[in-house]
Amino acid sequence: MKEKKQGDLSRLMYYAGDHKYFTYASLVLAALSALIALVPFYYIWKIMKEVLEVRPNYSEAVHIKEYGWMAVAFALIAMVIYIAALMCSHKAAFRVQVNMRTAMMNHIMKLPLGYVESEGTGKIRKIVADSSAATETYLAHNLPDKVVSFATPVGLLAMMMVFDYRLGLISLIPAVIAFALMGTLMMGPKMAEDMKQYQNALETMSAEAVEYVRGVPVVKTFGQTVFSFKRFKNAIDEYEKWTLGYTKNMMVPMVAFTTSANGIFAALIIAAYVFTGHGVTDKFILNLIFYILITSVLTVTLMKIAFAGESQLMVRDAINRMDGILNMELLPEPADGQTPKDTSVELDKVVFSYAGADKNAVDGISLKIASGEHVAFVGPSGGGKTTLASLIARFWDVNSGAVKIGGVNVKDINSETLMNEVSYVFQDSRLLKMSILENIRMGRPDATDAEVMEALKNAQCMDIIEKFPDGVNTVIGSKGVYVSGGEAQRLSIARAFLKNAPILILDEATAFADPDNERQVQKAFEALSKDKTVIMIAHRLSTVTNADRIYVLADGRIAENGTHDELNSANGIYTHMWSEYNKSVKWKVGKAGAV
Ligand SMILES: Nc1ncnc2c1ncn2[C@@H]1O[C@H](COP(=O)(O)OP(=O)(O)OP(=O)(O)O)[C@@H](O)[C@H]1O
Ligand SMILES: [Mg+2]
Repeated sequence: MKEKKQGDLSRLMYYAGDHKYFTYASLVLAALSALIALVPFYYIWKIMKEVLEVRPNYSEAVHIKEYGWMAVAFALIAMVIYIAALMCSHKAAFRVQVNMRTAMMNHIMKLPLGYVESEGTGKIRKIVADSSAATETYLAHNLPDKVVSFATPVGLLAMMMVFDYRLGLISLIPAVIAFALMGTLMMGPKMAEDMKQYQNALETMSAEAVEYVRGVPVVKTFGQTVFSFKRFKNAIDEYEKWTLGYTKNMMVPMVAFTTSANGIFAALIIAAYVFTGHGVTDKFILNLIFYILITSVLTVTLMKIAFAGESQLMVRDAINRMDGILNMELLPEPADGQTPKDTSVELDKVVFSYAGADKNAVDGISLKIASGEHVAFVGPSGGGKTTLASLIARFWDVNSGAVKIGGVNVKDINSETLMNEVSYVFQDSRLLKMSILENIRMGRPDATDAEVMEALKNAQCMDIIEKFPDGVNTVIGSKGVYVSGGEAQRLSIARAFLKNAPILILDEATAFADPDNERQVQKAFEALSKDKTVIMIAHRLSTVTNADRIYVLADGRIAENGTHDELNSANGIYTHMWSEYNKSVKWKVGKAGAV
């Protein structure tokens, strides 16, 4: 237990760097301030003593005023030292928070992209923000307060021993019981486990709440309110279960602890009864009244330690969560990276399954795409198109088989080289909350404004820019700025234009707001495709009729492949898809004509 505690602190101190001395200074200062804060009690004792001595000639108590001022002076000194302690602790805590975040972000940047995609950026962001915030609070406030809560009762008990050791010893008994209860019951492994479950339930509930809100448009259009609310409700129920469970588990130890912490007071009264059996002295009365006065302080600080224990559990949980991110495995980098010889892509018996899935998302696919060839992946939803494309860009590593670019296994290409080789336009293009200009410039950070504008023009984005009064400086996601899925894809294509990688993967958005948008995306993509090796994932077959080769993917396998004409006359899945597609186009045209 003790060892683990030190482990946590030294873990945190690692992130403090040379600022760790500020933490140590804050702990020393906090202890000092706690002890100095007890000095006023000594003066109160002196005041009481004088009053008792001069009784009943109270006008002879001439030192009272002086003692009173001394008490105030020491209280002020203690406060000033405590503020200094907090300044030190904040300095270190802030450094730790920043360094922890940086460490996690650096790791996340190197994670397989597929992992970040499927884990959910929201969840990862929450862990990064929450765990570093929890350690900040712990180091800045909880830890110095904990030192104060330990130093105060220790100092008080020592003081009680000095004035009257018998009363001191009696007071020690309930205090020791309280300490023991706290250590064994509240901070034991069972409580740590409960705390973890509680945090998990909280995390799930937040995630479900986001999901619920995000799903509102779908839910409303399909009238599925009850169904979708059910998952959210379950998460809330689970959270409630853990909160109640945790509270109930705490009930008995908490009651015992509170009773014994407050029992000091009762012990004193019993002791007074016993010790005064042989008569009462002035000194004894003085000490007894004084002790009764200060036991309330003792009780309060003991109670504080109980809550300090809770913050200890929370910070341990935060560290575990951080480790959860830091321990996520990176894709291994090759020792000496090779350079692809050309821009061809070859898949050799590639098998891949997502963690926890019971069937392969890609189930033994082999194919060759020559440099400069344009191919298309089509097929039913869930057939494995996006997964296959993400394997080519090495967002994941294959379970077996090999992905080769320019004749070199992607595992033997440096991630940076690979990134420069492949441009990927995502199915749900994500734009970051920054200006359009900066969003596009991510494609090539050293591009000039003029080059960005050129890319925007090539990607048919000028109408989007003109829509906003701030033009390219419009911040995506700010108030009143809305871009449709198709518009977002065009902006992503502009990014790819700027990057100008020789291999291009476009995962077409599933639905476009209007046919105009669809045409513009196609036009932008055609312009970008020139002289490149292209993999187009298409949901609208009109896009692919000109492809050099079309692969129909179903259930993670290649069901058919060939040119549009070959496939169309083969009377297979593609023939069926093509006739369905034409029906839907006719339906759309018919509808448009009727308006
Ligand atoms: N991140 C993920 N984690 C677990 N399973 C996944 C993940 N992404 C996809 N899958 C599963 O892998 C299979 C292939 O999905 P994939 O997204 O590659 O299909 P797709 O052909 O791109 O479909 P769509 O046309 O709807 O985009 C599906 O069964 C899907 O449920
Ligand atoms: Mg897909």
